[in-house]
Amino acid sequence: MPFYSDELVEEVRSRNDIVDIVSQYVHLQKRGSTYFGLCPFHNEKTPSFSVTPSKQMYYCFGCGAGGNVITFLMNHENMSFPEAMEMLADRAGIELPQREMTAEEKMRQDKRTQLLEINKEAAKYFYSMLRSPRGQRAMDYFIKRELSPETMQKFGLGYADQYSNDLYKYLKSKGYSDQILKDSGLVTLDERGGHDKFWNRAMFPIMDMNGRVIAFGGRVMGDGEPKYLNSPETMIFDKSRNLFGLYLAKKTHREQLILCEGYMDVIALHQAGFDNACASLGTALTSGHANLLKRYGKEIYLSYDSDGAGVKAALRAIPILKEVGLTCKVINMRPYKDPDEFIKALGAEEYQKRIDEAENSFMFRIRMLQDQYDMSDPESKTAYQVAIADMILEFPEEIERNNYAEAVAKQYNFSLQNLQKLIISRAGKGGIVRKEERKPLKSGIQPKPKQDGMQKSERLLLTWICENPKVYELISPYVDAKDFSEGVYRQVAEEVYKQIAESGAVNPARIVSMFQEEEQQRLVAAIFNTTVGELSSDSDKEKALRETVLRVKKNSMEQDRKNLDPSDIDALTRIVENKKLLEKMKRIKFNV
Ligand code: UTP
Ligand code: MN
Repeated sequence: MPFYSDELVEEVRSRNDIVDIVSQYVHLQKRGSTYFGLCPFHNEKTPSFSVTPSKQMYYCFGCGAGGNVITFLMNHENMSFPEAMEMLADRAGIELPQREMTAEEKMRQDKRTQLLEINKEAAKYFYSMLRSPRGQRAMDYFIKRELSPETMQKFGLGYADQYSNDLYKYLKSKGYSDQILKDSGLVTLDERGGHDKFWNRAMFPIMDMNGRVIAFGGRVMGDGEPKYLNSPETMIFDKSRNLFGLYLAKKTHREQLILCEGYMDVIALHQAGFDNACASLGTALTSGHANLLKRYGKEIYLSYDSDGAGVKAALRAIPILKEVGLTCKVINMRPYKDPDEFIKALGAEEYQKRIDEAENSFMFRIRMLQDQYDMSDPESKTAYQVAIADMILEFPEEIERNNYAEAVAKQYNFSLQNLQKLIISRAGKGGIVRKEERKPLKSGIQPKPKQDGMQKSERLLLTWICENPKVYELISPYVDAKDFSEGVYRQVAEEVYKQIAESGAVNPARIVSMFQEEEQQRLVAAIFNTTVGELSSDSDKEKALRETVLRVKKNSMEQDRKNLDPSDIDALTRIVENKKLLEKMKRIKFNV
């Protein structure tokens, strides 16, 4: 991605302090010269995510996520490299040169722009149609559903009228081609011409996080199938990464968000003052949704429909929300079907009460599970308790398990002692206790890098050099950059040696920028964040350094011997020299 020169990338990077940036997303606490917090890349209860100002790097000792300020924004905020650069340059007041786009990029960009324009035009068209005499029927419909003019305006509601090609004709008159109109999903084409996807429907525009219209839902006014018709997925509309109303909800800057199912639920909630509501629009909640929610809130109040399908959807959503680190409570809407109907019947105050009484998501799961068992039958009751014990074992912390056991015992009149015994016996049966370090969600993120002893020595050495250039002085007569394993290790070592020769210090965050692949960047972060246990005395330190240096050197010589080309006279001399060097090293004191 050679958009910008290395120097420019480095300038932008170095003018944005990593602690400033990361602490906008993660609560950090200082411990010594390093900051720690809960890792935003995997779910954890005790902080193993570190940010080191002197290195300008972050690294998670739990999941191995790591890099510099640019990769943080790319991985945490899903930004592309140019987007992260633009954001950081802007923040530091650096002007970036207009970068040249490739023809392909330009085409995609043009197409995106056009699709956004078309959706905006269509939204304006539907909006004015609703407010014209032709839209009376839809206006009556919205009024019947008790929406105020302000609400209709806030959500940009509209009407697609009875003719089945007037939007098509309108957009054609604006100069858009058949092809792009077809790609927008608003129009279908056949031999008789273009037809509107939406006609005679009440229209709900769907906005992205920047408030741009990217799709529509259209409801039949009355009975008819389908009740709601939705735009297909397009280049600008990805259902699994968009939530209806979240653009408005995020503006409240509240830590709690209400998550419901439908268009009208969100709209009714906002109208009643619950302007932190959004909806997944009838599609199953995905981890893409959960990650999006995580960017704007901490706690989710699930306000799904109270029917069987809604309960099922809630049960599926809870683990997905928890997986990204969101806490989650369930709002009981009974006896009403959904938030819209609830508020119409009982009003905002009663809904607020339901929020205050929202059920802990674990207790909700247990309660829902009960339907599958017959409490009057001892066998069935036991099976229920076993299921509960297994679920309690999902909690990594003992105190949490105890608290939940207590809560369940109390609510269901079980003997706490017996439940605890059951939990212990279930735990014995095949390690159901889940480790805290579960596999992180993101596909690119692997558990800890392999603790391959050899490579750990190389990493350790590079970390030490980075933290204390004096180590370099001591070891450089014996260990060369070429002594490091081929690939990322050697490239990093070469750069480290070069930087010290030029400036007397290592700039690890710059080295991260030399690599494009996320896996490589993570490895670089690991290379500069490798530790062994406490080395308190000087002699411990000396011994550790000497052994590490020897291991790296020995391995390098072994590799050298393996790859020996018999006709290479230099190689032979080198091996002999190195052998002598190794003997000498054994007698040297590496006192840092
Ligand atoms: P519901 O069937 O619960 O409808 O679908 P609703 O939200 O209560 O709608 P009203 O109150 O009758 O107007 C929940 C959501 O599922 C999606 C819509 O996003 C809807 O808001 N859905 C439902 C569709 O996309 N298509 C359908 O045919 C039905
Ligand atoms: Mn409804």
